[in-house]
Amino acid sequence: MTGAGERRPGAGDRASGRFDLTGRTAVVTGAARGLGRAFATGLAEAGADLVLVDLPDAPGLAETAAAVRAHGRRVRTYGQDLARTGELAGLADRIRAAAGPVDILVNNAGTAALERFNEITPESWSHVMRVNADAVFFLSQRLAEHMAADRVPGRIITVTSKNALVAEAGLAHYNAAKAAAQLLTETLAVELAPHGITANTLAPGMVDTPIDGEFPLEREGFEAAYRERIPLGRYARPEECVGALLLLASDAGAYLTGARIVVDGGVLADQMPRMRFMPPYRSSLPPDDGADDGAGAG
Ligand SMILES: NC(=O)c1ccc[n+]([C@@H]2O[C@H](COP(=O)([O-])OP(=O)(O)OC[C@H]3O[C@@H](n4cnc5c(N)ncnc54)[C@H](O)[C@@H]3O)[C@@H](O)[C@H]2O)c1
Repeated sequence: MTGAGERRPGAGDRASGRFDLTGRTAVVTGAARGLGRAFATGLAEAGADLVLVDLPDAPGLAETAAAVRAHGRRVRTYGQDLARTGELAGLADRIRAAAGPVDILVNNAGTAALERFNEITPESWSHVMRVNADAVFFLSQRLAEHMAADRVPGRIITVTSKNALVAEAGLAHYNAAKAAAQLLTETLAVELAPHGITANTLAPGMVDTPIDGEFPLEREGFEAAYRERIPLGRYARPEECVGALLLLASDAGAYLTGARIVVDGGVLADQMPRMRFMPPYRSSLPPDDGADDGAGAG
């Protein structure tokens, strides 16, 4: 007998089979570039058909669709401003009608603006909240209803951030929105468990993507300073977050719900990164000279 969150016996008894997504359909938001493109490509490589959502006319969406097709998978694209939350139930309905039952939802789209707390306007606050939190809720709400009606053991994965867990100056709205996304996803985990649908978060640290391209920062200097804070010594490549996503999206993660996976190279594990007066702690083992010390282009 199968229970909540499980597929029929036989699906994926071997290690590789547990991550096989053949026959599943996944929706990825913010799929035109960065992490969204890596997630869509990784899900296609694992066998899933894809539904890609991004802003209308987002330049990279066709390129992500081509990457999915290159893996022999079906793909549909939808131009939708996710900040228009009143339209998301309709979007979910159109996706269900065109693509059939949705097995996996990856709430990846996000936006951030580096602004001092006293300079954040109501418009900026509201936009960051709507994209990073409200849209996550309303898209999940309707697609979860479809998952339950279609009786699929659905997977909802919300991409939050280390900023959902620890504050960062200049990002009051983003921090608050990501924390809201964390808790609303945990709430979905509890409410959807009886339907066999899981809901989890994936919290990246610093990833080499275009997201902070518009920040008023001298990027090279910022990155060099931040790298010193990362125990692994470098930003992640987007592809390095795909393994955690596949765990949450596949049969391998059937018993994971309400969980968060932090993919941050050890940032949150280190409570004393600024103690520069101390010599950096190193083990007495010889260093790994072959270590990759620079993230590739996102
Ligand atoms: N890059 C990082 O260092 C990092 C760290 C932690 C968390 N994250 C999170 O990971 C997710 C992906 O980030 P990324 O770095 O790939 O960012 P990105 O800016 O490269 O990509 C985000 C995508 O979301 C889309 N998007 C933004 N607003 C939208 C809207 N209103 N409607 C529809 N689509 C919209 C953009 O067009 C873009 O294609 C985000 O939720 C982000 O907050 C990123």
